[in-house]
Amino acid sequence: MENKIITIDGPAGSGKSTIAKLLAKKLGLVYIDTGAMYRALTLLAIENNIDLNDEKSILDIAKKSELKFENNVNDENKYTKVILNGRDISLDIRSKKVGDAVSIVSKLSGIREYLVKLQREMASSSPSVLEGRDTGSIVCPDAICKIYLTANIEERVKRREKQLCKNNQSLSKSQIKCEIETRDEIDSSRENSPLIVPEGSTVIDTTFMTIENEFDLIKNIYIKKLKGK
Ligand code: DC
Repeated sequence: MENKIITIDGPAGSGKSTIAKLLAKKLGLVYIDTGAMYRALTLLAIENNIDLNDEKSILDIAKKSELKFENNVNDENKYTKVILNGRDISLDIRSKKVGDAVSIVSKLSGIREYLVKLQREMASSSPSVLEGRDTGSIVCPDAICKIYLTANIEERVKRREKQLCKNNQSLSKSQIKCEIETRDEIDSSRENSPLIVPEGSTVIDTTFMTIENEFDLIKNIYIKKLKGK
């Protein structure tokens, strides 16, 4: 299939989800939220009282479970509907409990191998936009358009606060800042697929950009790449 893949990587709160969803909606791409996959396996481990470092048990139960990721573009809050054994866990995977634990589970190499395979299968079946930490470096290194987003910490805290509010959750600014910095540190320093700027990607600092400006910029890069420029 023709390579029509966009990858969006970057640290927590850099605005990946918002822009990836908009690109998917406006350009008719399938949205693949790779973070939701790591969150789903983390929830599975928590609910089954599995030690978060016990890779084998998490994989065993994941393989026995029916985990589905459905594109659901008409619902802003459940853009990717995550279904575990017939139960909609789209909101459960956004809880603080899962947020605090997901960096531990996503460090495990077997878990990453398992999910990267799934992500590649999904991306190979339709033109897609993938969002995560390693989508341009490991999952789809040959993607036609690779973007790395950044934003300053104050702006990222503000965005996370808004997102939590949408999900009826609240944390103080200092708690959010601490949570983001801890997650960044773990995601960037881990041995397996750390968060890096993928080779050949365009780095965009979104701190002072509107979502419309960001969309136009990425759309133009994508179109140019599709035309081979
Ligand atoms: O984007 P998010 O906050 O939903 O991601 C949750 C966690 O999953 C994040 O702390 C790191 C991990 N993750 C990862 O390791 N690789 C990805 N491709 C996506 C997310």
